[in-house]
Amino acid sequence: MPLVTSTEMFKKAYEGGYAIGAFNVNNMEIVQGITEAAMEVNAPLILQVSAGARKYAKHVYLMKLIEAAIEDTGLPICVHLDHGEDFEICKSCIDGGFTSVMIDGSKHSFEDNIRMTRQVVEYAHDHGVVVEGELGRLAGIEDAVNVSAEDSSYTRPEEVEEFVSRTGVDSLAIAIGTSHGAFKFKPGQKPQLRFDILEEVERRLPGFPIVLHGSSSVIPEYVDIINANGGRLKDAIGIPEEMLREAARMAVCKINIDSDLRLAMTAGVRQQLAAHPEQFDPRQFLTPGRDFIRDLVKKKIINVLGCDGKA
Ligand code: G3H
Ligand code: 13P
Ligand code: ZN
Repeated sequence: MPLVTSTEMFKKAYEGGYAIGAFNVNNMEIVQGITEAAMEVNAPLILQVSAGARKYAKHVYLMKLIEAAIEDTGLPICVHLDHGEDFEICKSCIDGGFTSVMIDGSKHSFEDNIRMTRQVVEYAHDHGVVVEGELGRLAGIEDAVNVSAEDSSYTRPEEVEEFVSRTGVDSLAIAIGTSHGAFKFKPGQKPQLRFDILEEVERRLPGFPIVLHGSSSVIPEYVDIINANGGRLKDAIGIPEEMLREAARMAVCKINIDSDLRLAMTAGVRQQLAAHPEQFDPRQFLTPGRDFIRDLVKKKIINVLGCDGKA
């Protein structure tokens, strides 16, 4: 099974009322934890790589790890650039073997977003690669994505048809109240998503795959383990799983998850080191980190994404 694009995955996901998990990868243990889980439940996968991940691990290492995972599991895997900020990084990932890229022009004006997205689509499609664009801005802080709550804005449904037809993108990320990172709502605030916007986008773009970023649930079990073992994560709150399941039944075909992976791995490592302070062999504390990721991803696939058995 070679690397694949997301085209077939999204078509089946849209028709089947489920979503594909797009998991961020940064090292071998993360790649292995995710792909072993997907293999156990026979799920299609998108592994995504941010600019920060390329800086940390280098493009070639991540690419080879993903190729190894395909050989090891036999799964269809799409390798995707997460939040490409300009044409150059998209081109570099396309030239370097990725099958999908995101050009994130959401912080630019509507016209500039269209122009830069169109340029990436032309190059990508010439090379058999698919493109995700974004309209609307998510709040939250990551390495390369830093938008304050005041600067975030919901997607305007009246813009989506023009954006898609003028750019030629293959999927569209929209902002309906999710955000990046582990602190998505204020303490006491009721988590809410604008399903009315998603419905209106779906009505205007029938059959077109929609993407949700910032979709970690910040699972309390992992936060509690981290805090019980020397961590200090106060007021971490994510998107309730039933809301994501509902979105997956609608037009959302790709759900992005990074923070939950980080929390799972950190919980595994902290628990191990707290129980065994004498250990200093990285294999001893990275093994539970990888195991926690495998358990997390399996639960996500079955309970949230609904793509088990669909590989
Ligand atoms: O949306 C951003 C992803 O969580 C990647 O985060 O830029 O810190 O690698 P990063
Ligand atoms: P989370 O921070 O909610 O995991 O979102 C990740 C993401 O959107 C990657 O693009
Ligand atoms: Zn994102």
